[in-house]
Amino acid sequence: MSKGRIFSGMQPSGKFHLGNYLGALENWIKLQQEYECFFSIVDLHALTSSYEDTSKLPENIYNMALDWLSAGLDPEKNVVFIQSHVKEHAELHLLLSMMTPLSWLERVPIYKDKIQQVSLQGKDLNTYGFLGYPELMTADIILYKADTVPVGEDQLPHLELSREIVRRFNYLYRPIFPEPEASLTKASILPGIDGRKMSKSYGNDISFSATPDEIRSRVKLMVTDPQRVKRTDPGHPEVCTAYKFHQFFSKSELSEIEQKCRQAEIGCVDCKKRLAENLVTALSEVHARRQTFESSPQKVRDILAFGAERARKVASATMEEVRDAMHLS
Ligand code: AMP
Ligand code: TRP
Repeated sequence: MSKGRIFSGMQPSGKFHLGNYLGALENWIKLQQEYECFFSIVDLHALTSSYEDTSKLPENIYNMALDWLSAGLDPEKNVVFIQSHVKEHAELHLLLSMMTPLSWLERVPIYKDKIQQVSLQGKDLNTYGFLGYPELMTADIILYKADTVPVGEDQLPHLELSREIVRRFNYLYRPIFPEPEASLTKASILPGIDGRKMSKSYGNDISFSATPDEIRSRVKLMVTDPQRVKRTDPGHPEVCTAYKFHQFFSKSELSEIEQKCRQAEIGCVDCKKRLAENLVTALSEVHARRQTFESSPQKVRDILAFGAERARKVASATMEEVRDAMHLS
């Protein structure tokens, strides 16, 4: 028995790394067992902030599909699709925009923060589309009448707004939509190789599509305890980035590694070699799946087309109800 219906999405930014996997996708893979899930590559959302040069979009979408499939997201069990392939997202977004007070959109904290942040980089996000970002997100979720939305903490204000929009729709026209609830992904922030939060924009990431050799060379560059200068100096795992990775990827050897580090029985080079091999092992299935999908791009396209077809069925039924409730049918 399914516990309910899930919708979640991710922007195809071309930056999918190990942190994104641990912080979001790993959770989706677990949820696919218990819920009926809709997972969407939200390309229209990507346009809200990157509208000028769209030439990389096809490549980024394709790579995101590869990332998801190689991570083990099951395209039979879940509905996996590209947002813009289901035009109902755009239609519902438009209808919702008619009834949403401007002030609701303007007070979303991420909105003003991000406008300021990117204007420092010389980019203008004072656009209609960017303001409507949470409106589009609401349309995504409620088109499928999803009740549960797995997201990171930064997305909570968006979800709060989605619930307000739903209440307004249900009150003005007819109660069609359930109020979606966020299911917080337990934040386990993965550091990058320099110890800051892993992020492609810091250049400290390990790509989710890294080959075993790329993984090894990235781990080699990882910072360890800065006070451990000589091999014979005792180390401090609590300040070591490699140790933080061991906590994720070397669970069965953790206490041994910690002890050997503190007693200078293992050097940083060897410690990182062990980590690299554990990472390679942990990602070996992912790597194998990626190679299978990479060798048949048509299969990936078929999966996305099949997903869009399934999504469209649900979305178009919802839109009939919406049009009917709004006297547009
Ligand atoms: P972003 O690409 O930063 O918008 O992130 C997409 C998803 O990955 C969000 O759910 C983030 O919370 C998650 N995420 C991004 N970076 C990390 C990280 N270093 N560790 C854990 N989760 C992350
Ligand atoms: N805004 C989300 C993010 O940046 C992505 C997203 C778009 C989403 N539509 C969604 C997440 C609907 C959950 C539900 O992470």
